[in-house]
Order: sequence, then structure tokens, then C-alpha cells
Amino acid sequence: MSEITTQVAIIGGGPSGLLLSQLLHRQGIASVVLERQTRDYVLGRIRAGVLERGFVELMREAGCAGRMEAEGEVHHGVYLAHQGRMDRVDLAAAANGATVMVYGQTEVTRDLYAAREAMGGTVIHLADKVQPQELKSDKPFVTYEKDGETHRVNCDFIIGADGFHGVSRKSIPADVLREYEKVYPFGWLGVLSETKPASPELIYARHERGFALCSMRSQVLSRYYIQVPLTDNVEDWSDDAFWSELKARLPQEVAEGLQTGPSIEKSIAPLRSFVAEPMRYGQLFLAGDAAHIVPPTGAKGLNSAASDIYYLYHGLRDHYQNGDSAGLDSYSEKALARVWKAERFSWWMTNLLHRFPDMSEADLRLQCADLDYLFSSEAAQASMAENYVGLPY
Ligand code: FAD
Ligand code: PHB
Repeated sequence: MSEITTQVAIIGGGPSGLLLSQLLHRQGIASVVLERQTRDYVLGRIRAGVLERGFVELMREAGCAGRMEAEGEVHHGVYLAHQGRMDRVDLAAAANGATVMVYGQTEVTRDLYAAREAMGGTVIHLADKVQPQELKSDKPFVTYEKDGETHRVNCDFIIGADGFHGVSRKSIPADVLREYEKVYPFGWLGVLSETKPASPELIYARHERGFALCSMRSQVLSRYYIQVPLTDNVEDWSDDAFWSELKARLPQEVAEGLQTGPSIEKSIAPLRSFVAEPMRYGQLFLAGDAAHIVPPTGAKGLNSAASDIYYLYHGLRDHYQNGDSAGLDSYSEKALARVWKAERFSWWMTNLLHRFPDMSEADLRLQCADLDYLFSSEAAQASMAENYVGLPY
């Protein structure tokens, strides 16, 4: 068995793991990232597209913001289409000048990989059977298999940034871990296409046929979603069927101007709210999707992962540089307080805009009242904007 020793072993080379590794390296703290898949596989996943201001700040601190600032788009508002109207929430006006950055998770991850490579960071791909061990001792370690051999990484701390299906959360004993879950009775069918975005800003549409979202990655790359039943498969949806269903759910003037084209990616994601508590067990710290999932309606998945990384980064820095472990000791509590607020906001936006199979007339009226209130109250818009641009860390 080969052995290496580092300070922080990070399981998962998605955005959470890479961002933490990059931030720590710049502070002289060593880490090793263990990723089950290849880099191309990780970069092939099309996921989030809207970054909170705090995320943007962290990318700057990580020294990875150059391309994002050149190619990403700063958005000052979002549209909500409902009841035949297109209402805009002016994020900047309602949230003291705060904005969001439209820049895809794929590009964030690509930039982080490039930065890790440029600094000579250790990212081990195709690490199989990764297993965190001895979590309650002060000498934890991680084992994994690669090329038919078993390897061991000795460390001070293990970070479980291995997503919802990873091994880290499952390593916490069942009598310690509490899991809270809400599964929604629909999914999102997403399409990426090399077409001009339908609108300069995102449009979240509530419609009797179901929810739809017009988003983008750039001025030549669009991302669209429609709500679909959980029983649907991607193969059921031709490009033509997708475009015609999307148009049917959008305001007429948007539908008429919609540029369509072949899909270059098409996938269905289920919607789920999930939180695991606590986010620390001994020397293991969970971060990102490993600990929590939100329905994508509020664009909070990747952003909540980033806020965990912010708390962990500061906790580890204080520990190594000042011998102060208070930040690590309060990590779970602080991270969860922000996570639950992101869960609340995502649940609220999901309820506001989706058509649930069992909705009564009263439920529909309540949904309309919620929207009417939003666009008749500056306080309600300020509340939405404050959450959408991201609550403070
Ligand atoms: P992940 O990105 O899941 O990264 C975890 C990494 O760990 C992966 O690379 C995985 O291969 C690796 N791994 C897993 N198990 C192991 C193991 N045993 N050993 C080693 N490595 C392992 N959020 C939004 O805000 N907007 C969206 O539109 C949106 N769409 C999404 C669509 C889908 C299909 C999914 C699944 C998520 C979506 N999200 C979206 C959520 C957002 O993408 C996630 O919150 C974000 O990816 C979290 O980053 P992460 O690094 O914590 O986890
Ligand atoms: C996306 O562009 O993929 C996206 C944007 C906003 C969301 C969800 C997904 O709320």
C-alpha cells in the first residue's frame, strides 16, 4: 500500500472540493483531492448557471476570477412571467445594488481545474472505493484504490465534498445523522442549445401547463428548462416537442421571438429538498451536495456549496495559522443556519411557480395572491432580491 501525508484530504473534485483546495493552497495549507471520475466527465455535467455575489468574491480570493469577470454576465434583474404578465424584480434596486453573475458551473469548474494545475495541486482522478477512516481519532485517513493498488492518504481533516451520492455522508453513523427530505412530484427537463437567449435576463414562468425557465450561458448559448412529470424520460422528448412545449408556457411575445436549434445537451433532474445534520462528525466535515440539496428554482445549489466552503476555508485557516479552532467547532451550526434559509427560499420559489398535480382551486388562488403581493410590495421584492443575490455569509 502506498501512503502520502497531507493536511486536508478532500473527497470529491466537483466545484466544492476544487474551490476549497485552491483557497487553502494560496494560504500555504496542503490538500489532496480524490475524484472518482475523469476530469472530462466532471466537465460534461451541465448544472448551475447563476452565481451569488459571495461566490464571485470567493472566486476572486481563489485567484480564479479572470475569465469569469471577462466572459460572465452581470445581471441586475430577473423576470417572473405569470397570469399573462411579465414582471421584473430589479435585484440591484431592491437589494442595495447587489447583482448576480451568470457564468456556468462547467466554466467555474474548468477554471478551478486550470488553477489547481497551474499551482501544482494534487487532484487524483479515477480514485475508486474511496473510504474515510478513523474519523473520531486525531489521525484520520482516507483509503482508495487506483490501478489495482490500495493507497492511503494520512491527514488532519477530511472534507466530504463528494455530492449527494458520495461516500462521506454515509460514513457518519446512522444514530448520529439526521436527514430531512422533501421530494417533489416532478422534475426539470433541461436543454442546452447554441442559440441566442430568449431575453437579456432570466425568465421564470408560471403557467397552467407547468413551470418554464429561460436561462443562458452566454449570448450564443441558451439554457432552458420545463417542468415534467417524474415518469417522463429524456428519450420521450424530441427537440421539436421540447421547443413547442416551452413556447406554449412563455408569454406570447417571448415565444414569438424564441430562437430554436438542435439541443447539445438534454437531461432530466428530479427536484428535492434535503438536509443532513450535523455537517461535522469527528474530523470529517461535509460540504455542498454531500450535505444538502435544493430544488433548482432559486439557483441556490452551487451557491450553498460555496457558502460551506467559505466557512470551512476560514475555519481551517484560523486553525492552521492562529491555532484557533473556534471556526471549525462552530462550522456545522453556522453552515446549517444559512443552508436552511436557502432551503426555505428554494422551497418558496418552487411552490410559487410550479403546478403540483394535486393543486386545488384554493391553492391556485393562493399562488396568484403570493405573486400579486410580490409585485405590489417593495418589501416583498426586497425580500426576494436579498435571497436571490445571496444572504451574507
Ligand atoms: P458535485 O458537483 O456533485 O461534486 C461532487 C464530486 O464528487 C463529483 O465530481 C463526483 O464525481 C465526486 N464523487 C462522488 N462520489 C465520490 C466518491 N465516492 N469518491 C470520490 N469522488 C466522488 N444548482 C443550481 O444552482 N442550478 C441548477 O440549474 C442546477 N442543476 C443541477 C442539475 C443536476 C442534474 C444536479 C445533480 C445538480 C444541479 N444543481 C443545480 C446543483 C449544483 O449543481 C450542485 O449544488 C453543485 O454541483 C454542488 O457541488 P458539489 O461540489 O458539492 O457536488
Ligand atoms: C441555469 O442556468 O441552469 C439555471 C438558472 C437559474 C436557476 C436554475 C438553473 O434557478
